[in-house]
Amino acid sequence: MIIGIPKEIMSGENRVAITPGAVTAFVNRGHRVLIERGAGKGSGIEDDEFQHFGAEIVPTAKELYERAEMIYKVKEPQPEEYDLLREGQILFAYLHLAAKPEVARVLMEKKVAALAYETVVVNGTIPMLAPMSEIAGRMATQIGAHFLEKSNGGIGILLGGVPGVTPANVVVLGGGIVGMNAARVAMGMGATVTVIDNNIQRLRYLDEANGGRLLTLYSNPENIARAVAGADLLIGAVLIPGGRTPILCTKEMVKTMRPGTVIVDVAIDQGGCIETADRTTSHSAPTYERYGVLHYAVSNIPGAVPRTSTYALNNATLPFALELADKGCARIMAEKGTLSQGINIINGKVVNRAVAEALSLDCDNLD
Ligand SMILES: NC(=O)c1ccc[n+]([C@@H]2O[C@H](COP(=O)([O-])OP(=O)(O)OC[C@H]3O[C@@H](n4cnc5c(N)ncnc54)[C@H](O)[C@@H]3O)[C@@H](O)[C@H]2O)c1
Repeated sequence: MIIGIPKEIMSGENRVAITPGAVTAFVNRGHRVLIERGAGKGSGIEDDEFQHFGAEIVPTAKELYERAEMIYKVKEPQPEEYDLLREGQILFAYLHLAAKPEVARVLMEKKVAALAYETVVVNGTIPMLAPMSEIAGRMATQIGAHFLEKSNGGIGILLGGVPGVTPANVVVLGGGIVGMNAARVAMGMGATVTVIDNNIQRLRYLDEANGGRLLTLYSNPENIARAVAGADLLIGAVLIPGGRTPILCTKEMVKTMRPGTVIVDVAIDQGGCIETADRTTSHSAPTYERYGVLHYAVSNIPGAVPRTSTYALNNATLPFALELADKGCARIMAEKGTLSQGINIINGKVVNRAVAEALSLDCDNLD
């Protein structure tokens, strides 16, 4: 199959769907890999690195879309890309179609075979989303430590303290992938860490995995209020799959935090779990102050580290992309294996129930 990797054109997007090493994996299986000129630049990957591993560099997106049978990219097509897509072409990317009716309409009209990273679920987790949560979680603590510094607007606390001076209190709401990774980095930096979750099994796992180094608390308003009042860094990492994040930390609770302490609400992309984190911020203007507390609410935290994000994303998507290239979409549909969950639109029809419901469209089945 001819695989095409375009340069991402969404504003602020510096990732690319493939790494140089992954090109070899396709080439060794008899596929051809076309990469648009400069596609890796934002992630620090030069064209000649891709060429070295067997890719052909294509000068324009137009040529790439004309020649490729399968488009392998990071984000959903942007308006400038709509007309480049062709009937029968496979598209493999983050699509988030439930929230993007216009993109869904274009993919239906163009009869593109559209497979979304985020609708493939394995053992209750979303393997192609997990690496971004790992990155956002680890970054959350690093970001918090940065903004706790006086010159960055914080109270002036070193996360790990020093001998004779207590470390910072880091409180994490939600102990899933983001929460666990945030907690690990905070513990590694020497902070005192509390994770709050309403899943007792999860708390048991975190307790065992961290040998009692971590404090765990069951999620209820009383426990949250007490933990928040003593927090130097509060991290929001709650998720209700498919729904808006519940507000767990109220405005009244935030008022009990000391001035100069920091909130990083990672869950802001799903609405946020801290009442005062009521708007998203950007990498260029990442914080604002509310009741003396510094709030950070960037919705694409992994965008700050595109090189790490590109490699982490490719590690997660590559096995599925190779399967898709080897088998083609028809066989993926017929076999009804794990990857078939990724098919959102095919032959002009929506075949993913959640997407169809969100867009008030009929849902066809893969048969
Ligand atoms: N801002 C960003 O750049 C970015 C990047 C990645 C993920 N996220 C977001 O981070 C959030 C967490 O993602 P994740 O991958 O860790 O999800 P996850 O499903 O792995 O973890 C969510 C956790 O929240 C817990 N939870 C649910 N309801 C709760 C409640 N009432 N009280 C306490 N805990 C509760 C769940 O038990 C689970 O452990 C999501 O909103 C996700 O969209 C944001």
